Amino acid sequence: MMQNERMSILFVCLGNICRSPLAEGVFRDIVEAHGAQERFFVDSAGTGNWHQGKPPDRRSVDVAGRHGIDLTGLRARQVTHQDFERFDLLLGMDSDNVATLAALAPPGRRGRLAQFHEFSTGVPRDVPDPYYGNEDGFEAVYRMIRASAGSLFEKLEAETRGVSG
Ligand code: 4NP
Repeated sequence: MMQNERMSILFVCLGNICRSPLAEGVFRDIVEAHGAQERFFVDSAGTGNWHQGKPPDRRSVDVAGRHGIDLTGLRARQVTHQDFERFDLLLGMDSDNVATLAALAPPGRRGRLAQFHEFSTGVPRDVPDPYYGNEDGFEAVYRMIRASAGSLFEKLEAETRGVSG
C-alpha cells in the first residue's frame, strides 16, 4: 500500500444482509470516531446473490441502531472478481466464507484474504450466522463484531504507522 493511499477493506459473509453490513457499519463508526476517514475505505459483500440490492436484515438494522449506527443506506451485493484487485484486505466472517472466497479468487490476486476474527484478534473463531436465530443472536454477533473491529482498527493503524515510519 502506498503512503497517503487509503487502505481498502471488504467484509464478506454469505448473504451480505446480517453480519458483513454490521461489520462494515461498526468498523466505519470506529474509523470516524478516530477521524481516520482519509485512511480507510470500507465496504461489504456476500458470497451469495439471493439478497442483491436489498437493505440489511431488519434485526441487524435494529441492533446497530440501538448502538447509534445507521445501516439503512446499505444495499447487498455479491462479491466480484474485481474485489480481489480493488481491496487490500478481504475478511470473511466465518471459515466457510473464507473457503468460498479462496475458491473464487483469481490467481495472483492482490488483496489479502483472511478470517475476520482471526485476523483481528489472533483467535480463530467464526462470527456465527444469526439469520435463522432470534434477536439475542444479533446482539451477540454485534458484540463480537464490535470487539473484533476495535482490534482490527488498532492492528491496521499499527501497520500503517509501520509503513509510513
Ligand atoms: P449473513 O446471513 O451471511 O450474515 O448475511 C445470512 C443471510 C441470508 C442467508 C444466509 C445467511 N440466506 O440463506 O438467505
